[in-house]
Amino acid sequence: MKTLSNILLGITGSIAAYKTADLVRTLTKQGFTVRVVMTDAATKFITPLTLQTLSNQPVYVDLFETEMEHINLARWADAILIAPATADFITKLTYGHADDLLSTICLATTAPIAIAPAMNQQMWNATITQENCQKLQQRNIKFFGPATGSQACGEIGAGRMLEPLELVQCLQNLTVKQPLQGKQVLITAGPTREDIDPVRFLSNRSSGRMGYAVADAAAAKGASVTLISGPTALTSEIPTIPVNSAKDMLETVMANIPNTDIFISVAAVADYRPVQQIDHKIKKNSELLQLDLEPTEDILATVANQPNPPFTVGFAAETNDLDSYARNKLKTKKLDMIAANQVGIEGLGFDSKDNMLKIFWDDGDIELPRCSKIELADKLLDVIIQRFFHD
Ligand code: CTP
Repeated sequence: MKTLSNILLGITGSIAAYKTADLVRTLTKQGFTVRVVMTDAATKFITPLTLQTLSNQPVYVDLFETEMEHINLARWADAILIAPATADFITKLTYGHADDLLSTICLATTAPIAIAPAMNQQMWNATITQENCQKLQQRNIKFFGPATGSQACGEIGAGRMLEPLELVQCLQNLTVKQPLQGKQVLITAGPTREDIDPVRFLSNRSSGRMGYAVADAAAAKGASVTLISGPTALTSEIPTIPVNSAKDMLETVMANIPNTDIFISVAAVADYRPVQQIDHKIKKNSELLQLDLEPTEDILATVANQPNPPFTVGFAAETNDLDSYARNKLKTKKLDMIAANQVGIEGLGFDSKDNMLKIFWDDGDIELPRCSKIELADKLLDVIIQRFFHD
């Protein structure tokens, strides 16, 4: 992959523009050559002189200042980072407008474009903004952030620009060869819900955090990721198919399996469902109530036992005898790998932010000590990548 050295930084009219002074400094310190292109609105928040001094390069604002400058800049850039990117500029980019220097360059370039959105949380969550972002992502435009937190307008929510250091790190990741580039990864996450009647269901404590973190880690390593998620309170930038029951999850997984290179089954799938789903609310009385349960389909085992299965990774939640139960699941379900965690310990595993894993494969194992699920997911993916390319 081409190393990025020339960064064209596009600045649009948001209060977060004040942070670009620091961003330019950090980028130049890391060895990038930075040329800044500003919209008119951006110049109300920070002066071109400040950015020119820090970048030691000319700063561009006017489309008509010099002939063909938009084409020269579009060719010069190894990557374009638009930070901060306003809702208005995102809309412009979506529809291919070219009515100022920055939007014209974006249309004229073949360089990768990354966007660091910055706006009020309501504007970020607006349906039209979200639709525009989806369209841009489909055109392979990368999104760095936004972060969630308190905003200049006094509100709290998603829409803050990432900090300069985080943006530089995201840019550097663009330059690193992505090990899972071109690979399709399918991940299940969260609990399933097995209906008893229209108002009640059986479920479990899974928050979905581990599965969502695994999906993010796989995407960060270049994979095309599809997440199939039971009901959780989480949202993800990864294309996500929501499902309810184990049966829904099985059908959705099987419909997606043919193109999958790696399947990671993180979901806490219910092992049993009520034999009958009553179509009206069960009324109480003083009698004992008996619920008859039948086993659900084992999604993981179904995938692993296909004629040409993908590289298949299971999870195992155990309260005791972790090693022997995990190894047994690895063998009986015919998995390539299993990541086992001890549940029932305060602050670890189900419904918590931290976890620890012991990973087993045919002729080896490795322990990943306690850390956040985000870090753990990254390390787990490294182990999966090693085994996937080794097998
Ligand atoms: N799993 C699945 N379908 C099921 C049950 C489990 O795909 N109906 C998957 C889980 O996503 C996980 C692995 O199987 O990757 C192991 O799940 P776990 O609950 O630990 O084990 P079970 O096989 O259900 O066995 P037990 O509950 O007896 O430990």
